[in-house]
Amino acid sequence: MKKTLISLCALALGGMSLSACGGSEAADDGKITMGFAQVGAESGWRTANTTSIQDSAKEAGIDLKFSDAQQKQENQIKSIRSYIQQKVDVIAFSPVVETGWDAVLQEAKRAKIPVVLTDRAVDTEDTSLYVTFIGSDFVEEGEKAGQWLVDNAEASDVDKDGAINVVELQGTTGSAPAIDRKKGFEDVISSDSTIKITSSQTGDFTRDGGKQVMEAFLQSDPKIDVVYAHNDDMGLGAIEAIKAAGKKPGTDIKIITVDAVKDGMTALAAGEINFIVECSPLLGPQLMDVAEKVVAGEEVPERIVTEETTFTPEQAAEALPDRKY
Ligand code: AHR
Repeated sequence: MKKTLISLCALALGGMSLSACGGSEAADDGKITMGFAQVGAESGWRTANTTSIQDSAKEAGIDLKFSDAQQKQENQIKSIRSYIQQKVDVIAFSPVVETGWDAVLQEAKRAKIPVVLTDRAVDTEDTSLYVTFIGSDFVEEGEKAGQWLVDNAEASDVDKDGAINVVELQGTTGSAPAIDRKKGFEDVISSDSTIKITSSQTGDFTRDGGKQVMEAFLQSDPKIDVVYAHNDDMGLGAIEAIKAAGKKPGTDIKIITVDAVKDGMTALAAGEINFIVECSPLLGPQLMDVAEKVVAGEEVPERIVTEETTFTPEQAAEALPDRKY
């Protein structure tokens, strides 16, 4: 473990951004210790994200203490407290929900341990509680999904009666991607009065959750034209429910998802999903790079946005052979 003597400049310099300061003393054993509190293993995306973090830590020679919160905020808080007690050099985590982090982040700050957010943001007025946030722009992802629907609504003949009924499978309630992907999508589809979200419910980012919610939607609403799923796994669950109801996914009901993991891309290439907005889980290398800089007292940007694209069925077929996750 490095003997980190980072003086949280926000404390010393009265509100100055933590990312612009920091500084640590010479290493005890030269190795950085990172405590990482993961959300869980709810989706293909999350599994790929965990692998990326573990592999990158190994490659960078960072000693990684890893915990899986099983999608429960109280478990993440417990892990963070334990990392504080163990005096790790840096804490990183992907917050399961946006709110409720101030108390534990204050504890990390008092212990002079820098915190890096990855993948998901926290909702706090005190941005000195973390150094930087590495991850996607979820609002933009929702906008891209909405834009595809607006652009393709007519061409795809989504509904014969001129109304396009969308059901939404939301991610974990209160999580940044669920809030932002909903907002981005709604903002864009509001420009087209024929498109309406008729039902919206959480499937908790899991395949099983997506399947169960879709089964209930199909039973209560015979006129579903489009499924907007906040991730591939819920979209894949919805496909199972649609098939079981005797309909053809991608044809009778259009499907838009977010992530672009292998299973999602395979369904897209097969025409069972119509459009995927990419969300990259490969955040490990950037995280290790930032951790090294922060522990060395170097400046890092306050926000690092992941670069992403979108996929049509043709593009998915082309990309699949090289897809790593
Ligand atoms: O926070 C990223 C989201 O969390 C991914 O889109 C989803 O698959 C995961 O569970």
